[in-house]
Amino acid sequence: MTDLDLAALRAHFPILSRTNYLNSCSLGALSDTAERELDDFRGQWHQRGASAWYEYWMAKLAMLRSKAGVAHGVREGGTALMPSVSGALSMVTESMPRALTESGRTRVVCSELDFPTLAYQFRVKPEIELVVLRSEDGVGIDLAQYEAAIDERTLMVATSHVFYATGFIQDIDAIADVAHRAGAWCVIDGYQASGQIPVDVEAAGVDAYVTGPLKWLCGGPGLGYLFVREHRIEELTPRFTSWFAARDQFAFDFESFEFRDDARRFELGTPPLATVHMALGAHQLLESVGFDAIHARNRRLTHHLIGRLGAEGFSLRMRDDLATRSNIVMVRMPGEADVVKALADAGIVVDHRPGHVRVSAHFYNTTDELEHFVDELVRIRGSS
Ligand SMILES: Cc1ncc(COP(=O)(O)O)c(C=O)c1O
Repeated sequence: MTDLDLAALRAHFPILSRTNYLNSCSLGALSDTAERELDDFRGQWHQRGASAWYEYWMAKLAMLRSKAGVAHGVREGGTALMPSVSGALSMVTESMPRALTESGRTRVVCSELDFPTLAYQFRVKPEIELVVLRSEDGVGIDLAQYEAAIDERTLMVATSHVFYATGFIQDIDAIADVAHRAGAWCVIDGYQASGQIPVDVEAAGVDAYVTGPLKWLCGGPGLGYLFVREHRIEELTPRFTSWFAARDQFAFDFESFEFRDDARRFELGTPPLATVHMALGAHQLLESVGFDAIHARNRRLTHHLIGRLGAEGFSLRMRDDLATRSNIVMVRMPGEADVVKALADAGIVVDHRPGHVRVSAHFYNTTDELEHFVDELVRIRGSS
């Protein structure tokens, strides 16, 4: 990407001209392309009213399912639009084949580094025994731990692609292998991976992958994506459902119900059209840059940031193995909440998690912005 390309790209994200925005793992920046789609949504609503549904909006839903799928290596028909990542996880966990649980597979393996909403799915199910893997270094989980924990009693392993508070990238292909060798399922929360690192759900061989557009895909809140492997779709029987999941949605058949054959069988009613539009607009921009180019640029930015932080003597919560590092960088800092506030006063937007400042640069950031962040961090450290 040349300086000119980068300047043109950055101009699409107004927040970048106002702040040093380094918190994309909480919320990706809003682009003018996303806003234009939102305007289009409002325009169609004004102009056509309800007929926009049939003439226009149903096609937008199909377009988003397809584009989200392609960006994650998922075939046509493998994507469902869900209300949130939590909702997508609930759908999978409430749809598991009864025969499996009844055959004594009542354990679910997850890790203490997963986002809590994942564990909550099972904590509310008294019939499930949750096995929580502990991290020895507070950064990641080793494959050997999965191998030791998963056996013939395991219903599924449910864990993250990228841990939200350490940035550690898990080898989900290998985890899926371990699960499958034991006859268990593998369900992955990929919210912190989609859009920042390459994701190929089909190649990874995971059974279900949940994510959404809010963070690194820059599409805004109110929507989740659920990807399900083809042969698993009909094995899952949802215990809560909607007319969007019905094979013939517009037959309005009150007396009988049949699920669709594809992943839309998991959908739960009218999707949030405003977000659907914003997600499409953002997607268009990301696609024009190219997901491979985005991932490559992200790696370079992270490498730069880690190098400079290391040179300044900051301690980072990460492993040496480069394959496990992502754009979520955790800097050990006492008084982290005050540090984040002081950085905000200097126009730098980052976040904190216990004991750490969390910084997450995305492809639209520059090395100058990273330098500015580290300079300020050094200044704050020196003044405390
Ligand atoms: C990894 C991960 N999973 C799940 C969630 C929660 O997603 P939702 O609010 O869509 O359920 C978050 C939110 O930050 C997250 O980082």
